[in-house]
Amino acid sequence: MAELLTLLNSNLEWAKRIKAENPRFFNMLSEQQAPEYLWIGCSDSRVPANTIVGMLPGEIFVHRNVANMVIHTDLNCLSVIQFAVEVLQVKYIIVCGHYGCGGVAAAIKNKPLGLIDNWLRHIKDVYYHYRTAFDSCIDDEERVDMLCEFNVIQQVANVCHTTVVQDAWQRQQPLSIHGWIYSIRDGILRDLGVNYDAPEQVPEVYRNLPVAQPGK
Ligand code: CO
Repeated sequence: MAELLTLLNSNLEWAKRIKAENPRFFNMLSEQQAPEYLWIGCSDSRVPANTIVGMLPGEIFVHRNVANMVIHTDLNCLSVIQFAVEVLQVKYIIVCGHYGCGGVAAAIKNKPLGLIDNWLRHIKDVYYHYRTAFDSCIDDEERVDMLCEFNVIQQVANVCHTTVVQDAWQRQQPLSIHGWIYSIRDGILRDLGVNYDAPEQVPEVYRNLPVAQPGK
């Protein structure tokens, strides 16, 4: 229990420090939360969303799971996205992966880990889909890092394919989705250059409505 006591004491110190800087901070937050960002990241303890972007409580709505996945039928993740977009009206959704992700590394191995293999199978699908791109990799580390990037790109697409995002775009709600990757080695976030803010950017089969063709 002593270890847990450290956490509780540390919390008291933290709350005291925040209050000293801004006496109204907790009163303000208790009235409402109005974050502009939804962060979908990995559960890895080395990638804490608020800390790495220097943001305070109340500024980012966060969902984390093993390997920052957005699975089409994961009601947990879908509910987070729905609440963030429809109730909180976030303007940005960021899918953030990280190099050296243990979940991604496990997905390209053939070593059974149990139930989690079913979760990681989605990353195996990404690996198989892009398999020829890995021919240039010199070792497993490079292979894992490349797959971490492809995984973010795929999860960004999966966010865009949800009914929640499609519905938001259909009612013209400003909402953009972005893919970033974090390096545990230097603490720097990199923008992978995958940015979506309109249904025309996703394949037609995933859209709510077909895009009107000129003259039709
Ligand atoms: Co990870």
